[in-house]
Amino acid sequence: DSSLPLDMIIFGGAGDLSIRKLLPALYMAHLHGNLPASTRIIAIGRHAYDRSGYIEFVQEQSQPFIEAKNLEPAAWQAFLGLLDYIALDVTDASGYAQLAKKSRPGVERAFYLATAPTLFTAICDNLAACGLVDSNSRVVLEKPLGQDLASAREINVDVGRHFSESQIYRIDHYLGKETVQNLMVLRFGNGILEPLWRAPNIRSVQITVAETVGVGSRAGFYDGTGALRDMVQNHLLQLLCIIAMEPPVSLDPDAVRDEKLKVLRSLRRMRLGDIARDTIRGQYLAGAVNGEAVKAYRDETGVPADSRTETFVALRTYVDTWRWANVPFFLRTGKRMQKRLSQIVIEFADPPFSIFPDAPRSSANRLLIRLQPEESIQLQLMAKQPGSGMHMLPVSLNLDLQSAFAQRRAEAYERLLIDVVRGRLTHFMRRDELEAAWSWADPILEGWQELGERPLHYSAGSWGPDASAALLAREGFSWIE
Ligand code: BG6
Repeated sequence: DSSLPLDMIIFGGAGDLSIRKLLPALYMAHLHGNLPASTRIIAIGRHAYDRSGYIEFVQEQSQPFIEAKNLEPAAWQAFLGLLDYIALDVTDASGYAQLAKKSRPGVERAFYLATAPTLFTAICDNLAACGLVDSNSRVVLEKPLGQDLASAREINVDVGRHFSESQIYRIDHYLGKETVQNLMVLRFGNGILEPLWRAPNIRSVQITVAETVGVGSRAGFYDGTGALRDMVQNHLLQLLCIIAMEPPVSLDPDAVRDEKLKVLRSLRRMRLGDIARDTIRGQYLAGAVNGEAVKAYRDETGVPADSRTETFVALRTYVDTWRWANVPFFLRTGKRMQKRLSQIVIEFADPPFSIFPDAPRSSANRLLIRLQPEESIQLQLMAKQPGSGMHMLPVSLNLDLQSAFAQRRAEAYERLLIDVVRGRLTHFMRRDELEAAWSWADPILEGWQELGERPLHYSAGSWGPDASAALLAREGFSWIE
């Protein structure tokens, strides 16, 4: 019932994600009047702050993550006034009495689990045991949701003991990005693309999520995780789903998630031979990014000197359906790449026959959907170069969304937190979706183990190992940057 007051309870409330993303997002929601009246935010962490100590900590640490133009002193102070803190070892059941005392009766409770997933079970058990879970409760599960299919299943079963599926919000923050949501409108709000949106009209699909940042202060988490689990299994597959899915019958959460699930289930499972041939693992060496010298992954604080963790993945996969038969989907993601760039490139088939003797050989027509750093959609068409011959060059029809819509774009977490408050599940992953994504990723992780190869090296500031370009070149494709 959205008219109820809200207690937002954040486990890991003094952690990195809370400080950088969740609290700034909640502040923005508060600033724009999108939190229910008399909301309270109770942060839970191990560190022994008292309430005012925590507020001071947030003031210092979180405020820099709010854009100066949005920092309205009165609203910020009012927001800080919503905060409370409980120091708790989340595995210790007795400590939850403090929370039971603080959380008001008869409110809607949203539990945000921004801790290691190994703690999810204990947290849910303990919440239920002290009577904090009822039909007005919901739980938000932050990624990574497990390390593989088995651990993801375990979490799903354990959380499912206390929360029904309609109370569980599995976050993939890519689904909260304006540009990602816009993909649905691009595909299903326009009639002209859909007839073309299939094999053999489409020759290939590329999805790139390149970051310039390195592992930062997250080595403890990242080194046991790697890029396949951190980015591909979730963010890149979700993008792939939106590109590849059949039109859902409505925007109803299950209608959308049913279609995404079908895509995940039709992703071709890779065998050892496919893994050796069609996947590239990389790890960054020292180099320079944006003119600044940076360390090798193995020299980052907290990374073992002999780490074999991948910070880059490129791969080719297929969606085995009528629509996508034989269309390669090339995916790549990496840290310490040359540029921050997230984009999807749809390459259309060449004209069946060319009457122009000097036409470029391939793929003049492509739709380039850029998600980051700026948002744009470009359709590349061939045009005649002025002059006496019939020379042609690619030119772009350019949809400049930045200037078409002047209004503010909310950050992904802000949008998703508001969805949690309003009970909207469409942009969250359903249990079977998550498990299907792991079922595809698991054999790759196992195959890499079995092959026992070291990740290939690439210099920080490059586009990844040379083998990544070769993976596409082999089939007559190339990455578009
Ligand atoms: C997170 C990953 O899920 O996504 C990080 O754990 C990554 O490693 C981040 O940096 C990228 O998100 P964005 O929104 O900056 O593209």
